[in-house]
Amino acid sequence: MTTLIKNGTVVSTTGRHEADVLIDGEKIAAILQPGTSAAVSAESGAEKVIDAKGKYVVPGGIDCHTHMELPFGGTFASDTFEIGTRAAAWGGTTTIIDFAVQKYGENVRECLDSWFAKAEGECAIDYAFHMILGGVDDAALKEMDALVDEGITSFKLFMAYPGVFYSDDGQILKVMQKASENGAMICMHAENGIAIDVIAEQAASRGQTDPIYHGITRPPRLEGEATNRAIQLALVAGAPVYFVHLSASEALERVAEARNEGHNVYAETCPQYLYLNLEDHLGAPGFAGAGYVCSPPLRTKEHTHHKDLWRGLRTNDLAVVSTDHCPFCMKEQKELGLEDFRAIPNGIGGVEHRMDLIYQGVVMGELSLERWVETCSTTPARMFGLYPQKGVIAAGSDADIVLYNPSAKTHISVDTHHMSMDYSAYEGLDIDGHVDTVISRGKVLIEDNAYHGAKGDGRYLRRGLSSYLI
Ligand code: URP
Ligand code: ZN
Ligand code: ZN
Repeated sequence: MTTLIKNGTVVSTTGRHEADVLIDGEKIAAILQPGTSAAVSAESGAEKVIDAKGKYVVPGGIDCHTHMELPFGGTFASDTFEIGTRAAAWGGTTTIIDFAVQKYGENVRECLDSWFAKAEGECAIDYAFHMILGGVDDAALKEMDALVDEGITSFKLFMAYPGVFYSDDGQILKVMQKASENGAMICMHAENGIAIDVIAEQAASRGQTDPIYHGITRPPRLEGEATNRAIQLALVAGAPVYFVHLSASEALERVAEARNEGHNVYAETCPQYLYLNLEDHLGAPGFAGAGYVCSPPLRTKEHTHHKDLWRGLRTNDLAVVSTDHCPFCMKEQKELGLEDFRAIPNGIGGVEHRMDLIYQGVVMGELSLERWVETCSTTPARMFGLYPQKGVIAAGSDADIVLYNPSAKTHISVDTHHMSMDYSAYEGLDIDGHVDTVISRGKVLIEDNAYHGAKGDGRYLRRGLSSYLI
């Protein structure tokens, strides 16, 4: 099947230009000067022609931080791979990197296999895995090399959640030493979980059990402290470190310092930390704040966190925007913490809205169009060993393409989203811009506000090492 996308504005990290894009099968065959494609399409007999006039033609979004079906707090994240990846496609994301999970006493290989089993034949879009090491022991350390050889080239460690996923400094150092040998990227959840648990216990014993105390008991300073500690450990081990879901100015400062000194330190943030806050959302009346419980927590609007995060995205101290998509319904899931915020499952769903929400940064003048593409597609591909197969519109790359209409609007609501959630964290938000057409490896998944894909369209991606490591 050949498809010609005509008259659009192709956007890359380095600029934008009018061009036509020819797709042959699953790959991009050529980028053509406007006006030359008529002859080419006649010659190649393009079976489908899409008019992209007035639209941006951008590489498909890559969400490198999702948790489909994550077991957490006695329940499971509510999106299956089938539902979550279809919702991602609706929002212009054509690749996810999900986190397979290993915990104490569990065998890494068996855990990974169970993740393959959950995803296989289910996904609407292409998918890859990081591996969470929640129980670092000799067997887990040994398994890391084999996983890297098989395309699982990044590992997530937690400085938070003692007794669940937590690793102590010695365990972290050992994993980092291994990564310095085998080239893996270390993804770090940086919050001082030991101190947080003490503060949370003290709050609960005073009867402070509402959702807002989830945020109040996780001070930004403890994200800054953990970020600094992880950087120092990474430097001792000689390993790269990538901070996931960075939320606080105090953490961003530590990342910026390390980067200024020339170290392999990277970070992502997520839309919830750019748009939502502790007072209005986590502190919403009644139990509504539970819908906004995630870790690290939403930060206070009084501080400069939001402004600093947008600046970090401009300066590249924040290289990536992911979602940390981890949806739970209010009913029966978030409600587990009705009596005590510590029992609310942590996570917010948003895989469907990332491209729209970050495009809003372009509209607001916080980011350039090129930087939107870079943070949402090209850098995630480079960071996690998928480039140039993914993350770029170039001859030979996978034909993962989004036609984005800057003149249309998107209304976000639980009534219209495609995620398995009974509320929306962004309810009622009106976005300037709209995901019009989504193409994944040459197949049109979204067109004319309808889904044309099928379960199982998505393929597993074996990743290489990060392009950023030399
Ligand atoms: O609250 C969050 N972030 N839930 C998902 C697990 C994690 O820490 O990424
Ligand atoms: Zn985390
Ligand atoms: Zn996460």
